[in-house]
Amino acid sequence: MKKLLITGGCGFIGSCFVLRQIKSGNLVVNLDSLTYAANPKNLIEIENNLNYHFIKGDICDQNLIGDILQKFNIDILVNFAAESHVDNSITNPHSFIKTNINGTFSLLNASLKYWQNLSKEKQANFRFIHISTDEVYGSLTADEPRFTEHNKYQPNSPYSASKAASDHLARAWFETYKLPTIITNCSNNFGTRQHREKFIPTVIRSCLSGQDIPIYGNGKNIRDWIYVDDHCFGIELAIAKGRLGESYCFGGDAERQNIDIAKQICKILDQIKPRPDGKSYQEQIKFVEDRKGHDFRYAIDSSKAKRELGFRINGDFEEKLLTSVSYYL
Ligand SMILES: NC(=O)c1ccc[n+]([C@@H]2O[C@H](COP(=O)([O-])OP(=O)(O)OC[C@H]3O[C@@H](n4cnc5c(N)ncnc54)[C@H](O)[C@@H]3O)[C@@H](O)[C@H]2O)c1
Repeated sequence: MKKLLITGGCGFIGSCFVLRQIKSGNLVVNLDSLTYAANPKNLIEIENNLNYHFIKGDICDQNLIGDILQKFNIDILVNFAAESHVDNSITNPHSFIKTNINGTFSLLNASLKYWQNLSKEKQANFRFIHISTDEVYGSLTADEPRFTEHNKYQPNSPYSASKAASDHLARAWFETYKLPTIITNCSNNFGTRQHREKFIPTVIRSCLSGQDIPIYGNGKNIRDWIYVDDHCFGIELAIAKGRLGESYCFGGDAERQNIDIAKQICKILDQIKPRPDGKSYQEQIKFVEDRKGHDFRYAIDSSKAKRELGFRINGDFEEKLLTSVSYYL
């Protein structure tokens, strides 16, 4: 049985990962400060599991992290905790700097202290997994090759800049102190338990409430969508097989324009929950003023993760979108 400290485990991806770890028989300590983005109900099915421990706290609290690492004899720390919504980073960058940069710094510092006092064997097995995003690489044109681990960091939003800074810290703690860190950079996740503010839940909610479905700009921006369980599978592989100090990119091999995602969701709802007037939900699509500094295209080439870790995507995109839409219904 492995003992994991998972930060941000009440959020969208963190909760999926916590559930998978508990199902695998591991011990999980979930440290989450319960911001507006958290949903403790995501974990209701395991809240009484003896292997699950929830601690409400902030990743900026280095003493608290040190105490948890010691008390639970942690083997693996997986850092999901972050401010994660780009739009919020444009209006309120401060909390992004605090959590994403200072928080990662506290986690690294506390982990280093703990790790330096472990036995040689435990030191060799300890992992600090830092969960990051493809947005650190900036934006692609329509014809450029997909991002790989070799792309230059060129973050364009306060969110991606704060994530880029945190990645650099994780890398530096390996290069300087040999703390066994691994970074994962993933494309846009979709699936169950995502916060209502994000794109796919927003489209579904707008459809059902009869409101306009807001699409930024001309809707032609492209994202590479990965199902949240596929992402979590990749993280598990990185823990088990990832080389120390390396980063691994995970993508869904599913590049789609935002407008096409919105239309596809409308089509699904037209079939499973038709509008009372019999018209298509597509009638509610409305183009709105573009996001400031809106990146045109993100896409990931997961070749390294496939080659070194055995990463693969399970099932097809359309099927998983249907599963997700049904969940939100
Ligand atoms: N959602 C995506 O599409 C996506 C894609 C690539 C990478 N990522 C990265 O994956 C991670 C998880 O993303 P998500 O979509 O699940 O985020 P989320 O916003 O759904 O959840 C974040 C969680 O972190 C917690 N948190 C925030 N600040 C905290 C703090 N200071 N201390 C402790 N807990 C805190 C929140 O309460 C919440 O439960 C993030 O690091 C994000 O950058 C997300």
